This record gives sequence, C-alpha cells and structure tokens, in this order.
Amino acid sequence: MRKILIATVKPFAPVAVKKIRKIFEKAGYELQLLEKYNDKQELLQAIANVDAAIIRSDKFDEEVLKAGKKLKIVVRAGAGYDNVDIETASASNIVVMNTPGQNSNAVAELAIGLAIMGLREQFSGKPGGEMRGRTLGLHGFGYVARNVFRIARAMGMNVIVYTRYSKGDAAAIGLKVTKSLEDLYEKSDIVSIHVPARGEHIKSVSAEVLSHLQDGSILVNTGRKEVINEPDLVKCMEEKPGIKYMSDLTPDCEAEFEEKFPGRFFFTPKKAGAQTAEANLNAGLAAARQIVDFFENDDTTHQVNK
Ligand code: 3PG
Repeated sequence: MRKILIATVKPFAPVAVKKIRKIFEKAGYELQLLEKYNDKQELLQAIANVDAAIIRSDKFDEEVLKAGKKLKIVVRAGAGYDNVDIETASASNIVVMNTPGQNSNAVAELAIGLAIMGLREQFSGKPGGEMRGRTLGLHGFGYVARNVFRIARAMGMNVIVYTRYSKGDAAAIGLKVTKSLEDLYEKSDIVSIHVPARGEHIKSVSAEVLSHLQDGSILVNTGRKEVINEPDLVKCMEEKPGIKYMSDLTPDCEAEFEEKFPGRFFFTPKKAGAQTAEANLNAGLAAARQIVDFFENDDTTHQVNK
C-alpha cells in the first residue's frame, strides 16, 4: 500500500485535510499526518517510509530528501518551491511539483489588504488615502499578480506592470507594460512584488530600482524576502521618509525597522497570504490529485524539475 505524508509546520484547514484523506482512501493509499512539528528529527523519521509527500513552506533540504528512501514525489501545495533542494531531488529521481495558481487569489487579497493598511496609516487615526485613482505597479505578472490586477481594476486603480516573460498576456488585456523595472517603480504609488525567489529575482529589488520610488509610495511584498536587498531598502527608507514597506515576510533586519521606521512598516506575524480555507482546499486537493495521477497515470504535469 502506498504511503503519503502531509508534512506541514503550518497546517491546512481541517476541512482540507479531510478531503485530501478521502482522495487517498479512494485510491487505496494510506495517509500520515505530521503537523506543527518543531523538530527536524520528527520530519526525518516521518519521511523515511513514505512514497510521496505534500508540503507547504516546509524545508526539504538534502538531509530530508535523502532520508526519504522510498520517496518518489514531493508536491509543494502552493507556488514557490524555493524550500525544496531541486538539485538533490533530481539527482535522487524524486519528482517535485507545485500547484500553480491554486492559492493565488488568497495571496492577492492579502496584497490588496496590505496596500490599504499602508494607505490608511495602519488605522492609527492619521488621515490616509484611497486606492481609487492611484497607480498600482505590478512587479511580475504570474497568477497572484493577475488576481491583484482584477481586484485593483475594480477599485478604480490605474494598473501598470513590468514583466519580461508575459508581455503578450498583459498587453492582450489592455494592461500597460513599462519599459523597465525602474520605470515601474518611478510611476507607481503602490508597488506590489510578485516574482519568485529564483535566479535573477534574488535581491533584484535593490538600490537601482528602489531609488526610483517616489517619496510617499508603498512597497507591498507577498512573495519572498529573498527578492529584497534589505540594506538597500533600509537606506531608501532613510532617504525618503514617506516610503512604507508592508510585507507578508518578516525581513532579517526586523530590529532595524523597529528602531528606525515606526509606523512605516507592517509584517504579518506568520506568513498569512495563502492561509485561507479556500486556498488550503484548492492547493491541498490539487496536490493530492497530482500524486494519484502521478502514480496511476504517470502524469508529470506541474513537475518543476523535469
Ligand atoms: C506559495 O508559495 O504558494 C505561498 O507563498 C504560500 O506559502 P504557504 O503555503 O507556506 O502559506
């Protein structure tokens, strides 16, 4: 009997786990659950005798992957798979998949929420601003950014985007593509970051682009902290006292923010973008179905280490 592990430090909603269990029961597989674990040792033990794993931001490094002696497939229920050591997985013939788009509306709604929170001075009583009429710049144009666009347009915002790979898609829906990232940062009242923590995007939000932000603008990050050059952001916020940083990721230099920028930043206490019942259901069930399809039909759609 195939054994499947759900390993989630940040658990799915119970309703999602219940439905995932049903999918595996129907396929004749056994489900094991490791939630809210504090100790890597627990994960190393749990992974040792399973054929597949569903994870979220759980770190699957070389040690974990190598401990999975029978492991054939890992599905990251979500978009970003920077938490999985892809090189080791490929060398060990472990298929890695994500579930693209499944939690994107939840993350997009949080991005809009953070933008509003920043504009409204964090509900401190200071007069704030409104989204309508302002320019929102999308840094990247994947599933999350497309949902942000849909919501922002309905709010009466002027939306612009910088994308290298999806220019045609953006133009097709009448979205203005800026000529450069610098141009996007310069023209936006609010910039929302939607690029993965991979390749050229790592630390790509650096002084080069940040220096183009208008004083008074808001930077929203619901992606990954690794795309930000933190010392450059701190310097930029020192130079332009109207800039705010609203993020679903706590930066490494959190203490510096607390000391230097009171009232000008907000970090969700726990990464919360995809933590809705709907997103858990969408991504969790997609992950379960992908595992069944992989074993029963050799389906490798959404494999990220082909
Ligand atoms: C993702 O990459 O899908 C999001 O960042 C959500 O991550 P989470 O599953 O850890 O909440």
